[in-house]
Amino acid sequence: MNLWKQVKESWCPTDMVAYQGGKYRLGSTLAGIINDFMSTHGLETYTEPFFGCGGVTRHIKAPVITVTDNNADLLQLWLEVREGKFERPQPEQITPLVYAQHRNNNNQAPNATRAFFGLFCSAAYRYMGSFVHSRDRKPIVEYVDRHFERFTDEATSWFAKVHVLPAQCYSKLSTRHNQVIYADPPYHQTQGYWDTGEHKYGRFDAQAFWQVANQWAEDGNYVFVSYNTKPLCQHKKWTAVWTSEYQTQSASHTHVRTEYLWFRGPDQVQGTTESQPMDAE
Ligand SMILES: C[S@@+](CC[C@H](N)C(=O)[O-])C[C@H]1O[C@@H](n2cnc3c(N)ncnc32)[C@H](O)[C@@H]1O
Repeated sequence: MNLWKQVKESWCPTDMVAYQGGKYRLGSTLAGIINDFMSTHGLETYTEPFFGCGGVTRHIKAPVITVTDNNADLLQLWLEVREGKFERPQPEQITPLVYAQHRNNNNQAPNATRAFFGLFCSAAYRYMGSFVHSRDRKPIVEYVDRHFERFTDEATSWFAKVHVLPAQCYSKLSTRHNQVIYADPPYHQTQGYWDTGEHKYGRFDAQAFWQVANQWAEDGNYVFVSYNTKPLCQHKKWTAVWTSEYQTQSASHTHVRTEYLWFRGPDQVQGTTESQPMDAE
């Protein structure tokens, strides 16, 4: 199957934009758990430091929703489209050459057009990867048109009420207490993200992340983390409030992987869902 077909069929289950690690399939399930928790505990403030394309955020019902991400270009695109200020590249500009020009533009200022190319014209926002080729230009242009229209609908509907903090590393997030924080960081042993604030293309430091997540809970917040392993820290206070197994296929093997939603709250609050709690070891 060619790459373009794969992007369309596996990364975009619906008309959603392909996004690496996007929670489109699971978003309503995970948000349902968080919404129930918030209403049971009378919590109103939801914060998400790894926003991406908001697969979970779009289903959150909290009165105050605040997001950020360290991808400044992506946040800029969401904001400019929401405000009707984005001038989208036209079909004749959607070419490998123009893509390469944007890719090689290393200007640090947030750049929504760079995000447009990364999001709509490369494989699932593997921005440092390459333009998705197809022998025929028509499917690419149609894909971009349809998905950009969908993105515009989203940016002006549920996203309209979302507060957006300046792009930042999760570790710089200023948290008070009594916030629900949902984190969907790059998963263990995945590559290809800008790492902690240094604009270095590399592996995410998972141990450092779990330390910060513990600190959020110790500061009096209610922390949910999507992850693909047990928490990478010594703390036994994390509870798996939801798990699911899924299969991935490589050329020679089928792999069974597990997806977890971990919870840790201020010390007096335990995870409360109907699923079987599972202690981190
Ligand atoms: C798995 S994706 C989140 C997907 C999102 N839940 C969705 O449904 O679209 C992880 C996100 O973390 C961001 N990220 C990576 N390193 C980060 C860091 N150090 N601080 C903040 N965000 C970071 C990436 O830009 C990416 O958007």
